[in-house]
Amino acid sequence: MQPHFDTATDADTATDTGSATDTDSATDTDSATFWEGFYSRADPRWGTRPNVVLEGLVTAFARTPGTALDLGCGHGGDAIWLAGNGWDVTAADVAQTALDRVAESAWAASLAGRVHPVRHDLAESFPEGEFDLVSATYFQTPIEIPRTEVLRRAARAVAPDGLLIVVEHASVPPWSWQAGQDIRFPTPAEVLASLELGAGWRVERCDAPEREAAGPEGQTAMVVENVIVVRRVG
Ligand SMILES: C[S@@+](CC[C@H](N)C(=O)[O-])C[C@H]1O[C@@H](n2cnc3c(N)ncnc32)[C@H](O)[C@@H]1O
Repeated sequence: MQPHFDTATDADTATDTGSATDTDSATDTDSATFWEGFYSRADPRWGTRPNVVLEGLVTAFARTPGTALDLGCGHGGDAIWLAGNGWDVTAADVAQTALDRVAESAWAASLAGRVHPVRHDLAESFPEGEFDLVSATYFQTPIEIPRTEVLRRAARAVAPDGLLIVVEHASVPPWSWQAGQDIRFPTPAEVLASLELGAGWRVERCDAPEREAAGPEGQTAMVVENVIVVRRVG
């Protein structure tokens, strides 16, 4: 089953529109159509602040800023924050509307030279090159995609000594359209195993911490997230 895919609507994350809730059309459309529809209706402010979990992980584990690839960047909160902290960021998403807003935010922040929005349906194509940081924050979607394959491809794009960071929902907050559904999320160990990394990697984090997040109406709830941080050391 596809996991919950809303970005945790954290007060620190952004104003949230509530989530992509058009579930009736989710199963019979493609990624571009679904996510274009989502972003065309979304408040442009949604997702424009960095995810607090990513901020903490980059601060803790990245040694120096280098090149970064943000997979499923959405409105670019993470990408702009990374660029503002010295990274040269390729921001990839299937939704051109979101990418246009990332470009606007980068210009507004005088960071256009360090933020490179690129459109990819990651199920079909992937940005070229190697990156010192590859991140996938809440890269979760109701559309059936080979997500594990995308994450394996993401690992292959990590440069020597670089990091792969995966942060994903592992619980359903009460404001989600999936509230009340019996969803089994993979454990962080299962996600890590699915990457089939082999030798040459060091696991820096593989756990499922709980934290308080805020919903679209300002309500709060505890949420669980899988956090996987691995470093290419071979
Ligand atoms: C839940 S949102 C998370 C956005 C952002 N990372 C954040 O934390 O706010 C998932 C993102 O993945 C993108 N996405 C979904 N399927 C995709 C695909 N097949 N290829 C590229 N991007 C995709 C969506 O457009 C959306 O921006």
